[in-house]
Amino acid sequence: MNTVRPIEWRDGKVRFLDQTRLPLEEVYVETDEEVVIADAIRSLAIRGAPLVGIAAGYGFVLAFQKLKTNDVQSTIAWIERTTNLFASTRPTAVNLFWALNRMRYVVIDAAGSALEETQSRLLDEAKAIHAEDEELCRVIGQLGAHLLPAASTVLTHCNTGSLATGGSGTAQSIITTAWEQLKLRHVYIDETRPLLQGARLTAWELDKLQIPFTLITDSTAAFVMQRGMVSVVLVGADRITLNGDVANKIGTYGLAVLAKHHGIPFYVAAPTTTIDFEMASGKDIPIEQRSGAEVTSYGQKQTAPSGIDVYAPAFDITPNELVSAIITEKGVLRSPFRMAMEELKKKDLSSIVRKAVFR
Ligand code: MRU
Repeated sequence: MNTVRPIEWRDGKVRFLDQTRLPLEEVYVETDEEVVIADAIRSLAIRGAPLVGIAAGYGFVLAFQKLKTNDVQSTIAWIERTTNLFASTRPTAVNLFWALNRMRYVVIDAAGSALEETQSRLLDEAKAIHAEDEELCRVIGQLGAHLLPAASTVLTHCNTGSLATGGSGTAQSIITTAWEQLKLRHVYIDETRPLLQGARLTAWELDKLQIPFTLITDSTAAFVMQRGMVSVVLVGADRITLNGDVANKIGTYGLAVLAKHHGIPFYVAAPTTTIDFEMASGKDIPIEQRSGAEVTSYGQKQTAPSGIDVYAPAFDITPNELVSAIITEKGVLRSPFRMAMEELKKKDLSSIVRKAVFR
């Protein structure tokens, strides 16, 4: 079940939903400027690992529309400039770099073709990335719902729904599928400090879907687990390494520790486009640092003294030993993850592995 289409290609332009204004205002922005897309990713107007990759794909097409000549020198310079524009927006979600690789590959493969031909192939590729993600979400929902016990109560973190993907979401697709299958009783949504993706976005989506939920502060998670109110913790991911370590929204690691302590399964839902097949472990994942202002204020209101020191990582790393399973569109991976990843690589991932050139 999709609640919204947060990005779309429309007649040579990109139309996207400005997620910073939700839930109070549903404002769409239309642009043919790739810089506007890059800024939207940076400011989290467009966010969520798969959606960031999709947006970069469309941004690549917008940038190519402005190219006047495609001789080898100009094309190489253009590829570097455009790649850097998007690669410098957010470092953690690997989907961004994966999508950029796919787009770069099209330009290189089309070398010598007319500008219009390359332009049309780039647009096809960006639309394919978008459409494929919709299908990945659907399959993840099916596979994940299978794992949930009857009358599940799920605790989730951040936003993993239509707002974060090209389809019905990752962890949230499991929630909606389980709801349709009458396997879900209730969802607890962490508000997800400091940018409140849970309170602003997931609550907005589940409300539209009429799925019963309760919003809790992040610090209430331990208490609801202790009270036996949670049967499964279900989160998404921004990058998963070969050993099964998981980068996801700050606070996820704490939830995994709590889940282990209370004997609750901790499931991560992510498409294989979120797996970094070239990174051995989570210690190498670059963690985005956000501005301290996001912690010392909310909106226009200052909530802490001026000039104080703030540490604001956007993501944390959950070590693989705390992960009960990783639900991908290619199957459910369990420990030992290194072996499960090797098996996964043998499946039809040729496009992912082949295109993993640029980092
Ligand atoms: O900073 P954000 O809002 O882009 O962070 C998003 C998350 O951490 C999500 O959990 C993750 O991207 C998975 S979404 C399908």
